[in-house]
Parts: sequence; C-alpha cells; structure tokens
Amino acid sequence: KPIVLSGCQPSGQLTLGNYLGALRQWVAMQATHDCLYMIVDLHAITLRQNPAELNQACLDGLALYLACGIDPNKSTIFMQSHVPEHAQLSWVLNCYTQMGELNRMTQFKDKSQKNQSNVNVGLYAYPVLQAADILVYQANEVPVGEDQKQHLELTRDVATRFNNIYGDVFTLPEPCIPKDGARVMSLQEPNKKMSKSDPNTNNVIGLLEDPKILTKKIKRAVTDSDEQANIYYDVAEKPGVSNLLSLLSATSGNSIDSLVGQYTDKMYGHLKGDVAESVVNLVKPIQSEYARIRQDLPYLHEVMHQGSAKAREKASETLAKVYKAVGFIPRA
Ligand code: TYM
Repeated sequence: KPIVLSGCQPSGQLTLGNYLGALRQWVAMQATHDCLYMIVDLHAITLRQNPAELNQACLDGLALYLACGIDPNKSTIFMQSHVPEHAQLSWVLNCYTQMGELNRMTQFKDKSQKNQSNVNVGLYAYPVLQAADILVYQANEVPVGEDQKQHLELTRDVATRFNNIYGDVFTLPEPCIPKDGARVMSLQEPNKKMSKSDPNTNNVIGLLEDPKILTKKIKRAVTDSDEQANIYYDVAEKPGVSNLLSLLSATSGNSIDSLVGQYTDKMYGHLKGDVAESVVNLVKPIQSEYARIRQDLPYLHEVMHQGSAKAREKASETLAKVYKAVGFIPRA
C-alpha cells in the first residue's frame, strides 16, 4: 500500500478549511493507503504559544481527528514530539537545504511580516522540519490544502539533492490536493485564506463552533457589490460569492456549474442560507462524536501512545539509513 503522511498544527481550533483541504481526504485515504496522521506540536511553537492552551489544543486536535473519522485501527495517529526522529532528521536536512531556498518560502515571508517581533530560526526552518516529517516515513502521498504546495516542492528538492549525493535514501512524495475545498477563503476578507489563527473570528468557520453562531457568520459573509446582485462564479470579480459557491459545492457534492444554474434567479440571502445549512449538516455529527471522545482521556492517551510506538519503528529505520549514508558511526 502507498504510504500517506499528513498533519495539522494545534495552534487554535481546526477550521472548515482544514477539514475540506486536508482532513476529509485523510479519512478517505484510509481505505486504500497506509496512513500516518499527526498533530504537529513541534511546528506550533514557531509562533509563541501559551503552554496550557497548547497542551489542550493537542488533545482537542487528536479528538477531532478521531471524530472526523480517522480510525486508530486503520491509521497511525500520534503527536509529532513523541517521535524524536522528526527533529533528528530535520537537523540533518538543515545541512542540505540552502538559505536561498528558505528565503523564497511564501509562508515564511507572510508569517515573519505579520509577527516581526519574533522571527525565530524555527520559523525559518519550519519547511525543513516538514520535509523531515514526510521523508522519515518514506511517504508516497501527502494530502494537504493548496497553501502547502510550495513546502512539498521544497521537500522533493531536498530529497532529490540528498539522493543525488548518497543514492536512493528517500522516496519522493507527491502532494495530494483536493479538487474542491483546497483553498477555503475568509468570510469577511474573501481574498485571503481562512486561517485558524486569524484574530478576526468572523472570518473563520470553526469545526466545533455552535451551529447558531456558524449560521450567523455565514449569513454575514461579505458578498460582492456589483450593480446586479447576480450569483455566478468568478474569483477575481466576485470573490465572496465564489467562496460561498465553493463552500456549498464542497460540502454538498454538487458541482459549481450546476449550483450556478440553480441560483440564477435567486438572491445572495438564499445562497447564504443554503451554505449555512450545508455546513451545519456537515459539522453536527462531527461535533457530537467529538464531545464523546474528548472527555475520554485514557482512550486519547492510549491512541497516541500506540501511534507513536508504531510511527517510531518506521522512522528509526529511515534515520539509521540516513546516519549511515552521511558516515556517522552506529551507536550500537
Ligand atoms: P496547518 O495546520 O496550517 O493546516 C493543516 C492542513 O489544512 C490545510 N488548510 C486549508 N485547506 C483549505 N483551505 C484553507 N483555508 C486551509 N487552511 C489550511 C493545509 O493546507 C494543511 O493541509 N505545514 C502544515 C503542517 C505540517 C504538515 C507536515 C503537513 C507539518 N508537517 C507534513 C503535511 C505533511 C500546516 O501548516 O498545516
């Protein structure tokens, strides 16, 4: 079976963007792939986190993975920091990554721009740790949203460089980006990606948000003020309406074309009402599962404990191969 690896940061409540861009694919791939899914706690501390909140967010994330349908009997589910091989491989890969390559990473440029008082080395090397996450399992496919494409390209570049020097050590991974929902936009600022760390909570649809609040937010979403309030899909001219159409398409399974046909004579309010209903139908069962699982701490600990033990078997194999390739003396 092909190997799949992916993860989300525990830096706030997971959003509908995370679900449609990533998690939904993760669930589906369990049937056909050998899947590893983690909470990337090491990545989260590239931005300053409150320890107590981070601790809870990791458990929240894990419970939400399970509530969405990630099944510990099929997939390996774990905390990134429980598998030390990620950080170890990351160090080695740092030495095969050029600063010029990292300088080009748009996510780094964005985040350092937004947070100028803490442009730390970890934030800079973030994509190298991500490369290590993927390469340490020899993953074939990496299901992610569109914003991760550049990090995947870097991963392939670094792996190729390493392989060219030392032989075939790493498998080259392919990104797996969904057709619908790969880039969910903000409700109030539809030119920017929906992000769990957005301080404007009206931009964000949290997977665990109260359906009433969710509905209100969607009904207040920014639409586009051209002369006729027509409903059609055009990301440049009508980013707000286009985002709502994509959301409805991705949550209902109807194509955007067929939706546009259905809404030609309708008003924005109709569209928003239908988007809200479709989103609420999607999150409701996830929310009730979550409520049940989140309180079962012994179960959550057991899942992550077994997951990291399984993950380490595979990760330590790759790390040993890498250490040998570069010439380190084996410890035992
Ligand atoms: P993170 O936590 O920012 O996002 C988790 C996943 O959700 C996707 N995503 C979106 N998809 C569609 N629309 C959106 N608005 C949206 N926002 C986020 C992301 O593309 C991602 O797939 N660097 C990663 C975490 C990571 C990782 C890895 C991923 C660390 N190591 C190894 C894959 C493999 C990230 O920032 O995730």
